[in-house]
Amino acid sequence: MAASEAKLTWFGHACWGLETQGHRVLVDPFFDESPVAPVKAADVEADFILITHGHFDHIADAAPIANRTGATVVAVFEIAQWLARKHSVAHTIGMNLGGGVDLPFGRVKMTLAFHSSELPDGSYGGSPAGYLIRLPNRTIYFAGDTGLFSDMRGIGDEGLDLAVLPIGDLFTMGPDDALRATEWLRPKQVAPSHYNTWPPIAQDAAAWADRVRRSTAAVPKVVEPGQSFTL
Ligand code: NI
Ligand code: MN
Repeated sequence: MAASEAKLTWFGHACWGLETQGHRVLVDPFFDESPVAPVKAADVEADFILITHGHFDHIADAAPIANRTGATVVAVFEIAQWLARKHSVAHTIGMNLGGGVDLPFGRVKMTLAFHSSELPDGSYGGSPAGYLIRLPNRTIYFAGDTGLFSDMRGIGDEGLDLAVLPIGDLFTMGPDDALRATEWLRPKQVAPSHYNTWPPIAQDAAAWADRVRRSTAAVPKVVEPGQSFTL
């Protein structure tokens, strides 16, 4: 794998792995209670963990993995504080919408997301977020849990190699709005996320991918939980 490349692995739901330049990044770790995760939290390695918001299906395994591996957790300020104080996570980076931080693999900027964010114990989780990750030669956008919003056009101006978008509907954008998001974001590739975990968010990803091919310039990347692709 060339230094500029990135390997993406979908662990089901909104949980993704990003391997780049020798660093292992996890986004929204959700393994042990996920009905679709192909591995358990105890079997996952990470150097960095990015959290989009406080809902259990995004943060459930963050503290156990961070405390076992020593990974640094990046999250909105309130969630970073909660992980440090209530779960003894040693390395956290708290940030907020619009802010960025330079990490060893690239620059991570926190983008807005229209959703809610209460932590599993009822604590305030701050604002929900997405992430724009700028690697040396690749730019990746994780929308997080969100509805469609027109500022995605501006995020698209960043020049995206990959956009990871929820398509599950009910709690997030559904397939129709995710198609419009793809038009606005103009990524080279787009991967669906946050679907088929439970019946209420069941979606036909292959059918959505066909619509992406027909009506946008993006290449859809549909994988099964546990499968990977490279950028
Ligand atoms: Ni959520
Ligand atoms: Mn969710």
